[in-house]
Amino acid sequence: MNTAPDRYVVIGNPIAHSKSPEIHARFAAQTGQRLVYDRLLAPVDGFSQAVRDFIREGGKGANVTVPFKLDAHALATELTPRAKAAGAVNTLKFDADAILGDNTDGVGMVTDIVTNAGVAMRGKRVLLLGAGGAARGVILPILDEQPSELVIANRTESKAAELASLFAGHGDIAASNFEMLQGQFDIVINATSASLADDLPPIPASTIGAFAYDMMYGKEPTVFMHFASTHGAAVRDGLGMLVEQAAEAFFVWRGVRPDTAPVYAELRAAL
Ligand code: ATR
Repeated sequence: MNTAPDRYVVIGNPIAHSKSPEIHARFAAQTGQRLVYDRLLAPVDGFSQAVRDFIREGGKGANVTVPFKLDAHALATELTPRAKAAGAVNTLKFDADAILGDNTDGVGMVTDIVTNAGVAMRGKRVLLLGAGGAARGVILPILDEQPSELVIANRTESKAAELASLFAGHGDIAASNFEMLQGQFDIVINATSASLADDLPPIPASTIGAFAYDMMYGKEPTVFMHFASTHGAAVRDGLGMLVEQAAEAFFVWRGVRPDTAPVYAELRAAL
C-alpha cells in the first residue's frame, strides 16, 4: 500500500527566499528518503498556531527561521542540551505528543569550519564578534572544540559579558568591546548582523590571524571578509553553515547523514 510521504516545512516571515526546500530535496533524493519539504509563511504573531495546524495535518518536523526561533524555543515541550544553551530553536520534531526543540546552527558552523575548511579550533584563540541570537547559538559548540580561549566582543559590551558569564562553566571564556581587544586570534568569527548593512565591527587589524568566518553569505564577500583577507586571513562565508545545519536537522529527523559537499557545490555555483 502506498502511504503519503512524510511532510516537513521551513517556517519564517519572510520565507520566499529560503534555500532550505532545495537543500532538503537534494538530501532526500541522495539518501532515498521519501519526504516533501515546503515553505510555510506564518503571521508574525501566529507561529504556534501555524505549527499546531501543521502537526494536525500530519507534519513530522520543521525548520524555524527569522523571526521565530525564540517562539519555537517556548513552544517545544522538550529541548536538547544544545537548544537550551542556544536559548533558541531552529529544528522541531513532532512525535506522538511531544514537540522536540533542537538547534543545529552551532554544530553546523563548527562542522563547516573544522571539517570543510580544515581549520581546527582545539588549542586556538577564537574571537566571536556579536552577542545576539546568532552568537549565542554557536558558543557551546565552539567550547566543545576546546579552544585555548574564546573571547566574545560586542558593540554593547554588557551583552558580551552576560554571555561570557552564562557559559563560564564550559571553558575559558571572556568578554570585551571591539576597541580594547588584545593580541591576535587564530580564528575570528563574525556573528554580528553588521554585514547586512555593509558595516564592519571596528576591531583592531592586529586581531586578525590565519582564518576569518562570516556567518552571512551572498553574492559578494562581505566587508568583514574583505577586511580580514586584506590583513592576511583565509576567509569563508556562511553558505557552508547553512548546508551543514540543514544536514544535522535531516539527521535529527531521518537518522541518515546526507553528503553535504555536492549540495554545497551546487548552491555555490548558483550564487
Ligand atoms: P542575530 O539574531 O542576527 O544575532 P540580534 O540578536 O539582533 O541578531 O543581534 C545583532 C548583533 O549584531 C548584536 O551583537 C549587535 O550589537 P549590539 O548588541 O551592540 O546591538 C550586532 N550589530 C548589529 N549591527 C552592528 C554594527 N553595525 N556594528 C557592530 N555590531 C552590530
